[in-house]
Amino acid sequence: MHLLVLGGTGFLSGEVVRAALSSGHRVTAVTRGRRPEPGADAPAVRSVRADRDDVAALTEAFAPVLADDAPDAVVDCCGYTVDGARAAADALAGVPRYVYVSSISAYRDWPPGPVPDESAPTFGSEASPEEYGPMKAQSERVLEDAFGNRLLSARAGLIVGPGDRTLRLTSWLHRIATADRVVVPATGDVPVAFVDVRDLAGWLVVAAGADWSGPVNATGPVGMTTYGGMLAACRDAVVASGAPAAELVPVPPARLLEAGVEPWTDLPFWLPDDVAATAWQVGTARARELGLPSRPIEDTVRDTWRWLATAGLEQPPVPDRVDPRAFA
Ligand SMILES: NC(=O)c1ccc[n+]([C@@H]2O[C@H](COP(=O)([O-])OP(=O)(O)OC[C@H]3O[C@@H](n4cnc5c(N)ncnc54)[C@H](OP(=O)(O)O)[C@@H]3O)[C@@H](O)[C@H]2O)c1
Repeated sequence: MHLLVLGGTGFLSGEVVRAALSSGHRVTAVTRGRRPEPGADAPAVRSVRADRDDVAALTEAFAPVLADDAPDAVVDCCGYTVDGARAAADALAGVPRYVYVSSISAYRDWPPGPVPDESAPTFGSEASPEEYGPMKAQSERVLEDAFGNRLLSARAGLIVGPGDRTLRLTSWLHRIATADRVVVPATGDVPVAFVDVRDLAGWLVVAAGADWSGPVNATGPVGMTTYGGMLAACRDAVVASGAPAAELVPVPPARLLEAGVEPWTDLPFWLPDDVAATAWQVGTARARELGLPSRPIEDTVRDTWRWLATAGLEQPPVPDRVDPRAFA
């Protein structure tokens, strides 16, 4: 199969390129050329420079690809504007299959959710497409109008794994590896779910060659781990590498909120109880039926920790609000 990847040098898109190559597919990657990371520039990859949000640029860049070796499928990993969806719908209309990486943020009532399955309502066209969730919902509709049942919209959940430069999972690893004591929310038994970037990328490549259509919640199964399980995996990964690991200091959510601790940003992945009770409840029965794998969180965390050792990722100082001395 000849796969056209929109993106190719980023977190998910780089992994999609790697997965496609390792399955023996030919890859053309479209980027603006801002990230000189391996992937799209590997010799087996045809690298095309264009801003995918610009229909004229995308059409012009795509013309020689179409003339030489028409792609069998698109995997769209950089849909960040509705104009970008329109540009792809126009420039790539003749490609037989389109897999769009959307987000569970497309759901109108998430958070707090729950999202039992893909029939839950998404944002309507009245919602501002300047915002991420409405933009994803609107982009899905634009692409569905163009590609119909040739479109699969993979509504990704939280993507984690090696190469993740968002300061979420890596922030926990960094804190645990560099402090003596680390404040954590005392919500250890709350179920949480993530999707490993390698599981998602490999599956997107399979999806590009399948005849699946419509939306699918592309994340880990409800209850795949808990908040405490994720933190324990971080601690275990640090300890297994021979580094000292911090003592975890659980603080009840009410005390955290009283102290002005910002959910999610100060303590990554932490949501207040009323939101957490439903926000992590995203039904993934269809993804499981379609074979989206879900490796153990311990494997994801261990590999992320190994990657972090050489990633040169700068971590901001831990906010004073979550200094353990404030909760003594
Ligand atoms: N990270 C998550 O937890 C999460 C959760 C749900 C959904 N998603 C979705 O997953 C997808 C991938 O996310 P990611 O963070 O892993 O992104 P990514 O793969 O790092 O995407 C960035 C890639 O796309 C290229 N790119 C970005 N804008 C472009 C443009 N206008 N024209 C051409 N190329 C462009 C970048 O190269 P250049 O900069 O060189 O152009 C880079 O290769 C996104 O659609 C995101 O909305 C992510």
